[in-house]
Amino acid sequence: MQTRSLGATGLQVSPLGLGLAALGRPAYIDLGRGRDLGPDRDVEALERRCHQVLDAAYAAGVRYLDAARSYGRAEEFLASWLRARDLDPAEVTVGSKWGYAYVGDWRMDADTHEVKDHSLPALTRQTAETRSLLGDHLDLYQIHSATLDSGVLEDRAVLDELTRLRDQGLEIGLSTSGPAQPATIRRALELTTAGKAPFGCVQATWNLLEPSAGPALAEAGSAGWGVIVKEAVANGRLTPHGRGPATDTLARIAATHNVGPDAVALAAVLANPWADVVLSGAVTPAQLESNLAAPQLELAPDELEELTPLAEPPEQYWQERATLPWD
Ligand SMILES: NC(=O)c1ccc[n+]([C@@H]2O[C@H](COP(=O)([O-])OP(=O)(O)OC[C@H]3O[C@@H](n4cnc5c(N)ncnc54)[C@H](OP(=O)(O)O)[C@@H]3O)[C@@H](O)[C@H]2O)c1
Repeated sequence: MQTRSLGATGLQVSPLGLGLAALGRPAYIDLGRGRDLGPDRDVEALERRCHQVLDAAYAAGVRYLDAARSYGRAEEFLASWLRARDLDPAEVTVGSKWGYAYVGDWRMDADTHEVKDHSLPALTRQTAETRSLLGDHLDLYQIHSATLDSGVLEDRAVLDELTRLRDQGLEIGLSTSGPAQPATIRRALELTTAGKAPFGCVQATWNLLEPSAGPALAEAGSAGWGVIVKEAVANGRLTPHGRGPATDTLARIAATHNVGPDAVALAAVLANPWADVVLSGAVTPAQLESNLAAPQLELAPDELEELTPLAEPPEQYWQERATLPWD
């Protein structure tokens, strides 16, 4: 896989990155997780699984890896993998996030898995935690799910600390979620253009069911920001585990290219000129292999047109996402 620059940051990334949200903890949003991951989810088993998927990704040329403080032990597993493979920081771009803490206690049935805290003390504490695990490998630090409501984008103390981290050499980004993604991205752009915030990268949800952030992401790309796309297969709804009319259309197009529906969904993301990286959320090497067909898959204009009507109203999409079970 050819690498490219993450926007104007100069960080080298592959078009397909690997996200560790589903590999760092026993429970996560589930459409087929029980089948894919199996019942053996103690810490050692998940670390082995995480390393297996990281090995397969690295061998295939994946050069962007995405973690967060709240993904259970994802940063720890990533750190032990980087150490075991003796990788130099220049060999792979690593991003993580602060702003949520993992409180799931390694239990599948925890009432609450992660707790949000976008305050300055949380930033300071989590930066130290991330750095103690990832050290010089950390390239990009993102606010985890920034929203206008949380006030984080207007918190002078947090923005000043992020600017200090940027000046020390870290790229600073934010991730967004929910129907108000476009407004959040545009506010972050506005603040940065005015010299009041240090953002150079955004990670957002864009998929065939929920493409409403597209125009704001295009503006971010034009401003030189790196753009990372997450939840590209709608948490499994655009994979063989999905159901409904979207899966029929995807399956038809996938069959003509001899790939899985997930590869079509990921290729549709990469068809957007502003998308630098699309994240795979694979939990098995087989899922990853299927996802890896995407960067080589060029969808024809009439295929992209056929996929456009799959979009749902954003409120409906996010309401449905909120009902997906954690297992
Ligand atoms: N707010 C944020 O910052 C935020 C939020 C979400 C995600 N992210 C980032 O984005 C990454 C990806 O997001 P995500 O995992 O939530 O969503 P996703 O990529 O849309 O969905 C991934 C899930 O799809 C299923 N899948 C993928 N390929 C498949 C295949 N070939 N066959 C069958 N099932 C397949 C698997 O779930 P099953 O095995 O359950 O079917 C997998 O866990 C995360 O790891 C994280 O790095 C960031």
